[in-house]
Amino acid sequence: MDKILVHGGHRLSGSVKISGSKNSALPILAATLLTKEPCVVRHVPDLSDIHYMLQILSHLGAHVERASGTVRVQAEKIRSVAPYDIVRKMRASVCILGPLLGRMRKATVSLPGGCVIGDRPIDLHLKGFEALHATHRVEQGNVHVHATKLRGGTAHLRGKLGPTVLGTDNVMMAAVLAEGTTVIEGAAEEPEVVDLANFLNKMGAKIHGAGTSQITIEGVRKLHGAEHDVIPDRIEAGTFLVAAAIAGREVTLKRVNPHHLDSVIQTLQQAGFPVSSTKTTVTLQGKARPLALHITTEPYPGFPTDMQAQMCALLTRAKGQSSVTETVFPQRFMHVSELKRMGARIDLLDHSAFIHGTPRLSGAPVMASDLRASAALVLAGLKADGITEINRVYHIDRGYESIDEKLNNLGAQIERVKV
Ligand code: UD1
Repeated sequence: MDKILVHGGHRLSGSVKISGSKNSALPILAATLLTKEPCVVRHVPDLSDIHYMLQILSHLGAHVERASGTVRVQAEKIRSVAPYDIVRKMRASVCILGPLLGRMRKATVSLPGGCVIGDRPIDLHLKGFEALHATHRVEQGNVHVHATKLRGGTAHLRGKLGPTVLGTDNVMMAAVLAEGTTVIEGAAEEPEVVDLANFLNKMGAKIHGAGTSQITIEGVRKLHGAEHDVIPDRIEAGTFLVAAAIAGREVTLKRVNPHHLDSVIQTLQQAGFPVSSTKTTVTLQGKARPLALHITTEPYPGFPTDMQAQMCALLTRAKGQSSVTETVFPQRFMHVSELKRMGARIDLLDHSAFIHGTPRLSGAPVMASDLRASAALVLAGLKADGITEINRVYHIDRGYESIDEKLNNLGAQIERVKV
């Protein structure tokens, strides 16, 4: 198992190219199951989660070819049962349920368990399928979804913790091949949902309203092959902006959509960092210490939960007391105890972290618990005294393409050690 050693104290400058979005690429690859014809998806990041998705597609019978960032999938003949061994490795595998239900009228996928960021139910996905007149049952750890006739209906997908991103994706992917019209109320508005809808429309689907809380899908009989460029990863981009804020002189992100980063950019500006953007780039200038902030995570266009841990890392060094409240995954604070091992002063109360800024952190051996928590530890290590040793880094490889190489190209000193 690899570990990462971050040698603190090196300033970052220069530019970094942002990869394609993991959270867009995963459902878009799953959507290729909806047609027998070949699909080409470009800007697919090289990540372990993507490898798992490609393995699942192959197992289901699709022919998959990959050349650097371009993936070609042809799902001419497929089966409807996904293997537990691969599915259990990645919670996002649940997004094959929708396309399998749409195309085969049935799907069997093992039920995802919880994970360190909390309970991860799929009740809203199933409620959405019910609105399409599908039934489901759970047996031996698998969820079986079935529809004799898949017919449009109205799906209310907003749960007590807000809308569901993969749930919206799943219902949209099933509804494109249902008879009649489906309306999703309380839909997630994330750019990744819009990217998936754009891909589905290129395949011949009729989806309107993606990016708002009400999506309308007129079912069609058949979809065809399509080509698509995945949008830039706004969370990878946000992570590099925070890296620049922690340890940068001036860092420019290339191949980004600044509009997708509005809430993150505004938050960094409130913390005192000058940020400027063009149509496809964002530049941040570093400074000694951030101002304290009060942040609450929210569904898009609010401040993303996937940037919460990285922002906690930044605020450990703020002048004054900050607070970070998590509303999307209220238990998502595993990084706090590790940041405290590095000298951060943080109190957790209910779903909020109260961070008392301190001028210095010190390197320490720490444990990565999930994807974004690992990124937060790398970021904290960039400015800490001495060496930060991050164990269990496979988490970071799930969602960041060559983060160590990209940071080193900006001037960081990060080693990856095989253990
Ligand atoms: C997606 C992202 C993840 C991000 C999250 C929230 C992917 C692959 N992952 O995850 O990086 O952190 O959106 O922006 O795109 N919920 C229910 N019932 C359900 C489904 C969800 O109660 O059936 C709850 C969840 O527990 C959570 C909240 O709704 O509290 C939002 O979850 P959801 O948007 O579904 O997250 P994912 O789509 O799994």
